[in-house]
Amino acid sequence: MPYEYENFAVVVKDNVAIATFNRPKALNALNPATVAELDLLVDELLADDDVWGVIFTGAGEKAFIAGADIKELVKLDAIKAPVYARDLQRVFEKVEAMYKPVIAAVNGFCLGGGCEFAMACHMRVAAEGAKFGQPEVSLGIIPGAMGTIRLPRLVGKGHAIEMICSGRMYSAEEAHSIGLANHVVPGDELINKCMEIFKGIFRNGGLAVRYALESIHHGLAATPMEGGNIEANLFGLCYASEDSMEGLTAFIEKRKPEFKYK
Ligand code: CAA
Repeated sequence: MPYEYENFAVVVKDNVAIATFNRPKALNALNPATVAELDLLVDELLADDDVWGVIFTGAGEKAFIAGADIKELVKLDAIKAPVYARDLQRVFEKVEAMYKPVIAAVNGFCLGGGCEFAMACHMRVAAEGAKFGQPEVSLGIIPGAMGTIRLPRLVGKGHAIEMICSGRMYSAEEAHSIGLANHVVPGDELINKCMEIFKGIFRNGGLAVRYALESIHHGLAATPMEGGNIEANLFGLCYASEDSMEGLTAFIEKRKPEFKYK
C-alpha cells in the first residue's frame, strides 16, 4: 500500500498530494520519527507520477507545526545538537529541492522548526488566525533548521532580525505583509486556495515548471553570474522538450497549447 506512515496522512486528489502532519495531541511537533518519515515521504511523492504538486498541512484545529519537539531538544548536548540540526536541515533541504511545487497550508501555530519547514516549502498559504514565529530565543536556543538563513532571504534582513530576536508570534496578516505568507484566506478555504494555485500552475508546460523550480532553487544558492549560467542551461534544456515547441507554436497559431510533459 502506498503512503503508509504513522505520522502522516496522505491523500492524492486531482494530481495533488495532501500530506498532513498527524500528531495533533503534540500540536504536530516534529519528533525524530516524523522527520525520518518525511525523508521517505519526499522520495515517494517524487516517484509518484500521479502527483504533480504537494500540499503539507497539520492535523487538528490548532496547529500547522508547533516546532521541533521540545521533549527531544532537552535531551541534546553540545555534541548531539549540531548533528540533530544538520539532519533536520538535510530533510528540509530535500523538500525545498523538490521539482514538484510544494505549498505549506498553514492552519494554525507555525512555530520554530514548523516555520522553518514552511519556509522550505515553495509557497505558504495561511488561514486567518494562523500564527507564525521563531520563538527559539525564548527557550535560550536559536533556530537550527535554517531559519536564520531562509527567513532573511524571504522577508529581508530587518524583518528577519526582528522576528527571530523578539521571538514573538506574528499574525497571518502580518506574515503576509512581510512576504512570509503568499496569501491569507478563511480557514475553510485553505485547501481550496492551494488547489486553485495548483490549477494555475498545471495549465503550463510541466517540464518548464520543473526547470523553473530548479533554476530558482540552484540560482538562489549561487552567485548571480553562476545563477545566470544555470538558468541559461535550463532555458536550453526546455528546447529539448516537445512542450516548448508546442507552447511557442500554439501562441503563434492563436490556439491553446496541449502540453504532454515530453
Ligand atoms: N514540542 C513538544 N510538545 C509540544 C510542542 C513542542 N514544540 N508544542 C506543543 N506541544 C505539546 C504540549 O506539550 C502539550 O502537550 P501535553 O498536553 O502533553 O502537555 C500539547 O502540545 C498542547 O500544547 P499546549 O497545552 O501548550 O497548548 P496551548 O494552546 O496552551 O499553547 C503553544 C500552544 C503556544 C503553541 C504552546 O504549545 C507552545 O508555546 N509550544 C512551543 C512552541 C515553541 O517554542 N516552538 C519552538 C520549538 S524549538 C525549535 O523548533 C528548534 C528548531 O528550530 C529546530
